Parts: sequence; C-alpha cells; structure tokens
Amino acid sequence: MSYYLTTPIYYPNGNLHIGHTYTTIVADVIKKYKQLQGEEVFFVTGTDEHGQKIAESAAKAHKGPKEFTDEIVATAKSLWKILGIDYDCFRRTTDEEHGRVVQEVFKKLYDKGDIYKAIYKGLYCVPCEAYFTESQADEGCCPDCGRTLIDHEEESYFFRLSKYVEPLRQWYEEADIEPAYAKEEMIKNFLDQGLEDLSVSRSTCDWGIPVPFDEDHVIYVWIDALCSYLTGVGYGVDEELFQKFWPADLHLVGKEILRFHIIIWPALLMAMELPLPKKVFAHGWIVFDNDKMSKSKGNVFYPEPIVETLGSDVLRYFILREFSFGSDGNFTIEKLVSRYNSDLVNDLGNLVSRTCAMIEKYYEGEIPEPSEYLPVDKELQNAMVEAKTSFKVHMEDLKFHVALESVFGLIRRANRYIDETEPWILAKEDKERLGTVLYLLSEAIVESARLLSPVTHQTSKKIFEKMGLGKDEIREGQMKPGLKVYKGENLFQRVEPSIAEEIAEKNGRLFASRMEALHTSVEGSDTNTEKKEEIQNEETPITMDDFSKVEMRVGKIEEVEDHPKADRLYVLQVDLGTEKRTIVSGLKDHYTKEELQGKVVVVVTNLKPAKLRGILSEGMVLASGGESLRLIVPEEGALPGNLIS
Ligand code: MSP
Repeated sequence: MSYYLTTPIYYPNGNLHIGHTYTTIVADVIKKYKQLQGEEVFFVTGTDEHGQKIAESAAKAHKGPKEFTDEIVATAKSLWKILGIDYDCFRRTTDEEHGRVVQEVFKKLYDKGDIYKAIYKGLYCVPCEAYFTESQADEGCCPDCGRTLIDHEEESYFFRLSKYVEPLRQWYEEADIEPAYAKEEMIKNFLDQGLEDLSVSRSTCDWGIPVPFDEDHVIYVWIDALCSYLTGVGYGVDEELFQKFWPADLHLVGKEILRFHIIIWPALLMAMELPLPKKVFAHGWIVFDNDKMSKSKGNVFYPEPIVETLGSDVLRYFILREFSFGSDGNFTIEKLVSRYNSDLVNDLGNLVSRTCAMIEKYYEGEIPEPSEYLPVDKELQNAMVEAKTSFKVHMEDLKFHVALESVFGLIRRANRYIDETEPWILAKEDKERLGTVLYLLSEAIVESARLLSPVTHQTSKKIFEKMGLGKDEIREGQMKPGLKVYKGENLFQRVEPSIAEEIAEKNGRLFASRMEALHTSVEGSDTNTEKKEEIQNEETPITMDDFSKVEMRVGKIEEVEDHPKADRLYVLQVDLGTEKRTIVSGLKDHYTKEELQGKVVVVVTNLKPAKLRGILSEGMVLASGGESLRLIVPEEGALPGNLIS
C-alpha cells in the first residue's frame, strides 16, 4: 500500500520557527507510523520562494532573491536533519523541473480555455496577493488575514474558478476535510456567493515563474506553490512515481490556508483532470502567551535551542503530547521542561533503568522466562493490549495527544506494577515469580518503545538496543526470553526548571543574530541606546549605511483610542499592509480622534518595540515641529505597506 502526504511549502522570508516545525514533525510522525504498518510512504515538504514578499525580504537583506532563499533553505534543511525529519522530496519552487512543469500546466489550461486574459479591477490584499469580491470582503478587510483591502487594477490571466462551484459542492459531499465545520463555512461564504474567476498572473512583480507565452507576467505564487504537491511526487518528471502515489492521501495545512486547499486546489486539479486529494486536515496554531508569533513582537521561537539543550525527541514528543492537533495551543518552555522531567525522565526513563538494573542484578542481564500469570500480571497484559488499541485508533484519527497518553498510561501502570510486585523481595523469596515479573516488565517496555517510535524515534532505538534487540528491529513480536539486556546510561537526565530560562536566553540570542542577518532589527529604545543615539546626533553626522537601517512604511490609522494611563497619549491601530500594529503616540494635544481616523501616515517600522505606560508600542508615527506637531503625510496613491525609500 502506498501513502502520500505533504506539509505546506514554507515561505523562506525568515528562518523557520516552531510553527513550521509543528506541521513538519506531525508529517514525519505520520510517515514513520504508516511505515510501521508496512505502508510505502512518500512525504513532500519544501519552500515557497517566489513573490513580492520574498523579493522584498531579499532586498532588505541586500541579497538577490535566490541567494537569499538559498541561505534560509540551508538552515531549514539542517533543522529538519537535527529533528530527524525524513522527507522524500524537499521541493523548492525555484527548482528548474518545478518551474518547467508549472509552465506546462499553465499552458495546458490556457489552451483548454480554463485560463484566459482580461483586465482585473477589484479589491486586493497585498500580503496574501489575492483578490476578493465585495461580498467575500469582511467590511473591506481580507477574509484570510483581516488586513485592509485596496482597490487595484491590472491586466491579468484568470483561471475559470467560477466554473467549478457545482463540482466543488459535489466533492464536498464525499471529501474528508477537517475540521468538519470548514466545509459548511466554505459553502456559505464562498460557493453560495458564487466564485469569481481567479487572477493567476502578476505583472507588478517579476520574481516568479514567467507565463510561458507572455513575458510581462509571472504566475501567481499560490498556483506555483500548490503545484509543488504534484511536481514533488513526480508529475511531469517521473511518471511512474506519480502514478504510484497520486492522489495525495493527506495534505496537512494551517487553518489560515485551508481555503486555498479546498477551493482553489481541487478546482485546479479538476481542470487538469487529475484525481483529488483524499484528505485535507487544517490544524491550529502554536501561540506564545496566547499571542501570535511575530518578528516585530520579538516573540519568535526557534526549535534549535531546545534541541541543543534537551535533544530532538523532547520537542517531537512535547509538540504532539501537549496540543490537540486541530486547536490552537499555548507554547511555553516551562511546560516543555516540566513534561520532560515528568513524562520522559520520571515515567519512561525510570521504568527502563529500574527494569534493566534488576535484570542485570538478578539474571546476569538475560531476560528471564515467565511462568504462571497472576491477576496483577494479567492487568499489566491488559494494559498493553488497551494501549496498543487506543494508540492505533487515535493515531489514525490524528489525535496524537490522546494516542501518546495511552502509551504513557501503560508506562505509569508498569511503574506501579513494580511497586505492587516488589521484585527486590521476590529476589529473596520467589525466583520463579520474579522471572514472570521481569519478563512482563520487559515486554511492557519494548511494546511502549515500539508504539512511541514514530514520535521519540531516537529514544525508541536506544531502548531497543538496551533490551537486546537491534535498533533497526522496531517491529511487533520481537520480545522473547534470553535477550541480553544492557542498562548503560540513563535515557534522560533530570534538569532543573531554571533550564527554561537558559533555553529562552539562547533563543533570544539566536533571534537577535538572525534578525541582524535579515536586516530586520534596529537598536531599540532602551535607555542606553537612546543615550548612544543622542551622543551620535550631536557629534557625528550619520552615514548612508546608518540611515538605510531605518525602515519606514506607509501606514493607515484605523483606530484611535485614549491611552488608559496617560493623558497625552493615544493608542493607535495602524494598518501596514502586511500587518496591523499598535502604536502609542503623543499626538493627543495636536489632533482629535476624528482627525486621525483613516489618516495615511509615515511609520518607522523597525524600532525595537517599547512599553509606553504599560502598552507595547510597535513603531513610531512621524510628525514635524516641536510645540505644535503636524503629521508627515505621503501623497495620494501611497498604499499601506509601501516602503519609503
Ligand atoms: N507558502 C504558503 C503555503 C503554500 S502551500 C502550497 C504559506 N507559508 S507559511 O510559511 O506562511 O506558512 C506555512 C505553514 O506554517 C502554514 O500552514 C501555517 O499555518 C504554518 N504556521 C506558521 N506559523 C504557525 C504557528 N505559529 N503555529 C502553527 N502553524 C503555523 O502559507
């Protein structure tokens, strides 16, 4: 049996973080789990390297786009390596064969009449690079990311998405899409409103795959990116591979990109006359202190410091055990450290070391023969059967946290079994009974390690070795008396809770160095730096290089509120095209709320965020004058998000 699964291909406009790691670990765990079931699995991940956003990030870092993404891709690949991610294809949309096939697909759909050229006028979301109809727009905002839509006009190629409303409706009747309510939402918000044809080319950005018969246009990034699911598994490249694995059994996606995967993607596949994916699963987000990760907030968390300090299995285990895959989950290093100590060190580590130590001590390291089973033994045997069944059911259902809890239930039961049977007393009084107890404990350990192996892959291999089995023999039915056990070092070392701070500090340093490499950070507004700036301003003229560090963008003030704790400050919500920011500003003596509302202004966007009377301010609105401030206002036509150069 063959099984094909994918993660989204990630934007390499910054280093990949815990959020991207989440989906990729899940995909790898599913792959390893399916392989244990004897299935042949193909797993595609990769990077989505074209489009405006990447071109801008590269320019900011003073690099060409390919040079820029090459570096990020190299760090992504080494991250997947240290995490033990075993993908079969890392598809980069800049790969030559991918570009060729995407052009062929575009041409095929054009020849067929499913793609045509026209003028597009409409509401456009700059960051999502997508058009929306009035009815799809959520009070003038993007239904996907919530940012303000702008009026936009351009010549474009269109995909006849409108033609696929009824076929999509039919597909929804049988398609396996999770969360289940997503289908209803799509039907109500999109299909029932009628789908507009989709603009699938851009003439405003040249960093993309050219439309093969019109060099003024490049192919829309989402068409390019979605096709990676095909080219990654051989479409147009290796027909045999493609025939073996297509259609995809599972596309794993984050909840905010589900619409692309259950409207645009199946419609495209229908146009290409290809079979549709069997399942699309949208998962929740990992948040920090219930807040989304963002570079500007400085709360981006990378996996490397965790792996370096506690190993890769800890992160793999924690990420699956702590969160329910469909829902959002709040990530804290403290919780990770506490689970490490309680589940891995205490429950699993102790069970293995206590059992191995007793087998070494009482049986010269050889797993003994069992004899008659008493009720307490049968309970442990039942716990093994239950863990196995429950694990399978919940893994198939992608309920990883429940599946893992089933195995840890067994591990805790086995630890209790040691306390109940008191092997150290049996060693003196009843050697035959001791043999049964240690045999069953070994069996519980091997069974747990086998079940856990898709998740804690390295650890399971170590356990198999300790239990006298080859580390590559992770299969069912391997346990037998006579295997040579070796206790060796403990699987995990207990750590102090304060190690969480150490990891957070390492992450902070990594974040700062990565931001510097991306040219995204600027010295913050802490007092030292302010002093340094004052001195610099008085004494030395700044260089062009100094000036180019300041990033300024056009912003639109969307909301104005009084600062609850400061009489002369407003709290503004400013739309920056790609995001909304809170900015605390001293404009209150100079402008009324009504005057500010809707104003287009200039914002310094890469200042280190600073708390002003308790509210985090993420930028600065520029104004002129001292006593009487007047805003610096760009000319008409400037759009939120435009870089000021
Ligand atoms: N390039 C597109 C996907 C194209 S797929 C044909 C894209 N890239 S992305 O890098 O912005 O996001 C990729 C995935 O990472 C999304 O599924 C997104 O949900 C996921 N995550 C990014 N941050 C996340 C968290 N903090 N938590 C969990 N997943 C999140 O969209």
